[in-house]
Amino acid sequence: MGWLPRQLVRQPLIVGRAVAKVDGGRHETRSDLEQLTVAQLKPLLKERGLPVSGRKAELISRLLDLEDGEEEEEVMVRDEKDAETLQHEADSASGLSKSGSHTTDAEEHKEPAWVKTSKRLPPDNGEWMSTRAWLDAVPGLPLPPPPGMTLADLAKKEVSILDYVRRRSARGDLDAVLQSIQRFAKEHQWLKVAGGGKSMLLQGSLKPGDRIVELGTYVGYSSMVFARRKRDIGGGGIVTSCEVDAAVAQVARAMHAWAGAHEEIVVRVGRGADWLATGLLGEMDLLVLDHRGTVYHEDLRDAESSLATGARILADNVLHPGAPLFLSFVKDRYSVTLHEVNEYLQKDLEDWIVIGGPLPDPRPPPPTSTPPELRRWSAEVDAICWRSMQGPVNWTDFQNRIGPGLRTWCAENGL
Ligand SMILES: C[S@@+](CC[C@H](N)C(=O)[O-])C[C@H]1O[C@@H](n2cnc3c(N)ncnc32)[C@H](O)[C@@H]1O
Repeated sequence: MGWLPRQLVRQPLIVGRAVAKVDGGRHETRSDLEQLTVAQLKPLLKERGLPVSGRKAELISRLLDLEDGEEEEEVMVRDEKDAETLQHEADSASGLSKSGSHTTDAEEHKEPAWVKTSKRLPPDNGEWMSTRAWLDAVPGLPLPPPPGMTLADLAKKEVSILDYVRRRSARGDLDAVLQSIQRFAKEHQWLKVAGGGKSMLLQGSLKPGDRIVELGTYVGYSSMVFARRKRDIGGGGIVTSCEVDAAVAQVARAMHAWAGAHEEIVVRVGRGADWLATGLLGEMDLLVLDHRGTVYHEDLRDAESSLATGARILADNVLHPGAPLFLSFVKDRYSVTLHEVNEYLQKDLEDWIVIGGPLPDPRPPPPTSTPPELRRWSAEVDAICWRSMQGPVNWTDFQNRIGPGLRTWCAENGL
């Protein structure tokens, strides 16, 4: 079994529409919620990013995730078996079932010692998880013990997206899964996925049989957009997507399995740079950079030797939040087009998707130094991205400050 903690696999998942998940993962039924006052219900709604206005019955329905006027459905309780199925789907989608299955059936049902401990990891264990999961995904490397945490502890928002999708789309219906993710982003909480106009550019960049390597999977939306488009243009070629956050990657695998796209997409857990260094990603026809703009140039440099003849690159978020050093890296070495698009569902924020390919040899070597203003902007991008993980930031102000300089630099440098 892959890296997913055994404790999670054994935990019943309650996904029915008449059950709300509140208070750190505890599940509340309608009758539980009816015991609460309006004043007690409001913080629960706030916590989930839901509107707090309305009558008590409306607040409860909202918490139970019922649409206005929608009838309550029979509660579905996903039992232990279903959770195991989810893990198996995710494992087989990722190829982990072979490399990760070190146990016999009898051993599988023996509770490992660590499950008995109630010790929890400190909250900031993302780095540890990622490293561990990365090791787990590479056959033959030693495994540290799994943590006593559930997937929902580690990726609360992403698990709620998966639950939402599983309730609203039939298993195996890739189109419905993509639509449900868009609907979640529109109606519940914005998602950092390449939707809207960005999705059109992604689709337009594909050629039949492309071997795609994407850095930055998140919940697997863009990789499914690629898989969907590939079906239309004749299939062939796998999509490999790398995600540094192990918990998020596991959600993406489960999402792909639910959409029936797991044979077309492989999710690799770990930093893009680490995977590029292994050489295991193979030759690529399309490299998609959608992870951390301030390292695009480094990862592209490391990927260059794996780019097939005629390969293309596609980089998202080049203006928002920004990838200044990448622009300096591709200047004179790549033929690129900057596509102006709105950030997904954010009309006030502009972004650039850069699509292009290496210029034929002989071409200049990578730059050994970069203009100081680009380095300063890059540091500012990192800083605001970091702050945005701690609380709200004003992206429009940031864009108004950095954007004009970046535009001028591009114009002066023929980009
Ligand atoms: C913008 S989201 C990707 C969105 C996704 N491509 C889509 O459109 O559906 C960026 C993701 O990259 C991941 N990430 C950040 N740095 C990374 C790295 N160095 N290598 C791989 N993934 C990384 C983040 O954890 C996050 O999930």
